[in-house]
This record gives sequence, structure tokens and C-alpha cells, in this order.
Amino acid sequence: MNKINKSSDFIKTLNGINTSDTPIWLMRQAGRYLPEYRKIRKEAGSFLNLCMNPKLSAEVTLQPLERFDLDAAIIFSDILTIPMACNRDLKFIENEGPSLKPIEKESEIFDLQLKNNSVLEPVYECLNIVKSQLNPDKSLIGFAGGPFTIAAYMIEGRGSNDFSKCVSFFNNYEKTFLKLLKKLEIFISNHLIKQIEAGAEAVQIFESHARIAAQKNKFREFCIEPNNNIIKNIKKKYPHIPIIGFPRNVDALYPDYVKNVNIDCLSVDQNINIKKLLDNLIINKGRNICFQGNLDPEILLHGGNNLINSTKNILEKFSSVNHIFNLGHGVIKETPVKNIDLLIKTIREWKK
Ligand code: CP3
Repeated sequence: MNKINKSSDFIKTLNGINTSDTPIWLMRQAGRYLPEYRKIRKEAGSFLNLCMNPKLSAEVTLQPLERFDLDAAIIFSDILTIPMACNRDLKFIENEGPSLKPIEKESEIFDLQLKNNSVLEPVYECLNIVKSQLNPDKSLIGFAGGPFTIAAYMIEGRGSNDFSKCVSFFNNYEKTFLKLLKKLEIFISNHLIKQIEAGAEAVQIFESHARIAAQKNKFREFCIEPNNNIIKNIKKKYPHIPIIGFPRNVDALYPDYVKNVNIDCLSVDQNINIKKLLDNLIINKGRNICFQGNLDPEILLHGGNNLINSTKNILEKFSSVNHIFNLGHGVIKETPVKNIDLLIKTIREWKK
């Protein structure tokens, strides 16, 4: 075990140890708002080529840490590499987003398997490269999508606001849908375990579309239980690796997630009332976990005094608990680089 990394502020905070500085990293910190990213992305030809090229994906993973004083690197990849590895014809269409061959029949779920073990190898190789180049006081984060979010894309065949095809699928064929979640649970657990073995010091589960399950009163069956099963699988092998859960936009159900999913840290979106959430967790004698979030990416996009004040306000509201500063969702591609400099300066100068 690497002693220097163990004592980084990011890992300490995840492990419940108080640090004087609030650690910071940003979802989508490597991406199109950075000119150096756009250059490598062009060189790779496509987003998926970039994800599957370990040398180039390692380079873009490290780019934001060269430019900004961030505490952690998140591996450059995508949650949809799992369906890609299951032969679901993943494509990323310019200005539209992901497209996959939608699952339409139960037999497609029975037949679902990873093509072969080597498809996701470039992801682990990328982690190896980043780990060998990363400054030892910075941490490396691995990630995967949650089973519900990945299943939603696999059935819908694309991104969507309401995932209506997925909703009618699970309304009509709930047992079959649960079988899909179960299969994904295994693929995701293995993918995260392999990322840990390749150098990830913490992992995050992006259950980005959890709200769709929550609205249909299926949050427990479709998100809480599958997420917790993944964590059980990981903790059995690697009990010391901190796990961040991000069931985005579930509002009043965040405490339910905390109580029933064995996460070390809860990442929250920008729409929650922080005080209400923390009060609720104390009243309910919630476990002592760490929190991550939750600046609105739109506020980062616009910058200025509102960015400074909103950042201080978040730091203040989370000051009674262990907190990792992050956004409520990913960096927007039009975000000026100088706004990120201002954000980090504000956090670094702030004192509890
Ligand atoms: O946070 C990071 O910096 C790590 C990299 C990362 C990416 N995607 C890179 C990416 C992570 C953690 C993700 C997770 C992801 N991917 C999620 C969960 C988080 C969320 O955003 O809700 C989801 C739902 C996806 C699926 C996905 N990938 C969509 C819907 C899109 C298209 C939207 C867009 O911004 O174009 C992607 C593409 C994608 N993933 C890009 C990046 C940097 C943009 C690709 C490009 O450069 O053209």
C-alpha cells in the first residue's frame, strides 16, 4: 500500500479524517472546455477512440491536474463502455450524444455477456499509466455507471429526459428488468474491482438517472439494492477502498440511500437543500459519512461574484461534516478556464 497516497487530503476526507483544507475535483474535469483536450480528441478521431487509447486517455486524464490545483484525477472513460463491451453497438453522435442498439426482447438480456475480458483492458492500462505519472499527493478515482443508469441507456438506445421506453419496459416486464440489473451488477462490480487493481484509490458509482426510478417508486429495488450489492462485492475484496455514490437528483430520497447503501461518501446535485439533508441525516442517526458537491455547473459557467459567493456558501454549509468540493453535475463545455481558476482560488483561500 502506498503510504503517501493514503495520507492525501482526498483519501483522508473519504475515510472520515478531518483535514484543514477541503479537497477538490470536478466531474468532467477533462473535457471540451480545455483547448489541450480538444487537440488530443481531434488526434484520436473520436471520443470512443480516445477512451480506448490508453496513452491518449491517460494524457487527457492528467491535463486538468497540470493546469489546476486539483486533489484528484478521474480516469478518462465513460459509463457506456460496459454496454459497448456487451456488443450493443455504441456510437457517440456529434451534438446528439450516445446511441446504442436498444434491447427489445427478453432473450437479448439472457444472452448478454461481455465480448471477452480484453475489451475493457485499455481502461485498466490507462489507470496504470496515470498512476505511474501522478504526483503522489494526488489521488486517482475510478468509476462506473450504476446498473439502473446503464440499463436505461441500453433499453432506450439513447439519452432522454424521461426514458419513456425504459419506463414502459420496467412497468411491463419488471422481472426481466431486474435480471438485466443483476447482470449489470456483476459486470460493474468486476469492472470496478479491476480498476482498483490497476491503481484506482477510490471509486464513484454514477447513478445519474436514479430520479426516473424514484419517480416510479422503484428507487429501492432499482437503485438502492443493486448499488449496495456492488459495494458488498467490492468491500469483500477491498474493504479499505472508499466508495462514492451519486444517485443524482433524488431529492428527499438521498437519506434513504445513505441509510441503505454502504457508501463512504454521498455526492449530491445542485438542487438539494444542504441544511435539510444534513439535519435529516442527524435526526435519523445516519452513518457518519463524507459529502461531495454541489456547485451548480451553470454558476461555474457564468463566473464572477456569484461564483465566489455560491462557493463560500457551499463550503460554509458543509463545514460541520467531511466535505469534498465538486459540482452538482459535469463541467459545461463552454465554461471559461479562468472561472475554474477563480473557483479553486476561492476554495483554497477559505478557512473553516
Ligand atoms: O468526470 C470525468 O472527467 C471523467 C470522465 C467521464 C465522462 N463521462 C467523459 C465524457 C465520466 C465520469 C462520464 C460519466 C458519464 N457518461 C455519465 C454519468 C455522469 C453524467 O454526466 O450524468 C453519463 C450519463 C455518460 C454518458 C454520456 N457520455 C453522455 C450522455 C455523453 C454525451 C453528452 C456530451 O457531453 O457530449 C457522453 C460523452 C462524454 N463522456 C464526453 C466526455 C468528456 C464528451 C465527449 C466528447 O469529447 O465529445
